[in-house]
Amino acid sequence: MTQDIPTAGAPELTVVVPSYNERENVPELARRLDGVLAGIAWEMIVVDDDSPDGTAAVVKEISRRDPRVRCIRRVGRRGLAGACIEGMLASSAPVVAVMDGDLQHDETILPAMLEQIRAGHDLVVASRNIAGGSKTEGLTPIRQGISDLGRRLSSMILKAPLSDPMSGFFMIRRDIVEEVAPRLSTTGFKILADIAASVPRAPRLAEVPFVFRERIHGESKLDAKVALDYVGFVLNKLSGGIIPLRFIFFALVGTSGLLVHLAVLYAGLTLDLRFEWAQTLATYVAMTSNFVINNEITYRDARLKGGRFLTGLVLFYLVCSIGAFGNVGVASWLYAGDVDWWLSGLAGAVMGAVFNYAASSALVWRR
Ligand code: GDD
Ligand code: MN
Repeated sequence: MTQDIPTAGAPELTVVVPSYNERENVPELARRLDGVLAGIAWEMIVVDDDSPDGTAAVVKEISRRDPRVRCIRRVGRRGLAGACIEGMLASSAPVVAVMDGDLQHDETILPAMLEQIRAGHDLVVASRNIAGGSKTEGLTPIRQGISDLGRRLSSMILKAPLSDPMSGFFMIRRDIVEEVAPRLSTTGFKILADIAASVPRAPRLAEVPFVFRERIHGESKLDAKVALDYVGFVLNKLSGGIIPLRFIFFALVGTSGLLVHLAVLYAGLTLDLRFEWAQTLATYVAMTSNFVINNEITYRDARLKGGRFLTGLVLFYLVCSIGAFGNVGVASWLYAGDVDWWLSGLAGAVMGAVFNYAASSALVWRR
């Protein structure tokens, strides 16, 4: 028989804070939470991916004095979304919040967010894009552009009309997270959008405006890889999850290779190279750039280094040559059979891409 264990002090709210190299910031955040959450039973779970600056040790030092603050130290893993998921699943409170550990998120709105949950909402998002919020402070114009694009893309796949789907600052009922967690992706920064796309029913949504602050200590970890990860995620959801994320990356990288190819061809021709030579050079430069980017992003979990990088590159040239051969073969065969030029060309290209993808996955980046 289980006995009733007194639950006085059991937290109502867990604040999950992903961290990577934030030792200057997280202690200050803990201090601020203590002030702003007075009267609320809260705890803070910092999920640290073994930051080289020793963030985890600093947080554990705080835990010694204040057991409301806990640290999950993950080793051999990186990923903001995965860290948030693990933190939320480590909670036993009915409500969980996710916020950045670098003080860019305004902790003073947490009580207002909790009020909305208590009033019956499932999900409360701290938004920079509604009246009273601001996306202009703390964001460069390029970051704003990326953010706008992300918002437009996401609106097609979300079950709730989020004004700021890329926000890393939200509060949600834990039972919803427990339900969707197995379907969430652990890479990149897309945790909120992923939840809002993966929930079975539209959540009761509330939004609270906030001003995104400027970073004082440390630096942002959002880079081109994170942005590409987001685009791949949306395309994968749009295809109903049928097209594998990895193939989408592979195809996006291939498209970037086309641009490289044309640029090199143009440069070669302006330098008076013969067309055949310029085209050959462009082909190899594009294949090499495809290989390098695929190695960094598409197959980052099987990244080739040192000697294996070179043998992988040669193997990749070989695979792509066979793919190109098949591509031209199929396209010519269709074209000879009176299929439109563009359909023949497209079919050949898709065939080539699928072959290159399958062969690269099986031979070049074996896992
Ligand atoms: N555990 C873990 N692992 N934490 C990470 C990782 C990681 O791989 N990468 C970043 N973090 C932590 C950072 O330490 C910080 O606390 C928080 O996640 C946000 O990372 P930043 O690198 O500061 O992100 P940002 O300020 O550029 O991006 C902000 O705006 C984006 C939209 O424009 C964040 O709020 C994002 O969540 C948001 O998507
Ligand atoms: Mn930040």
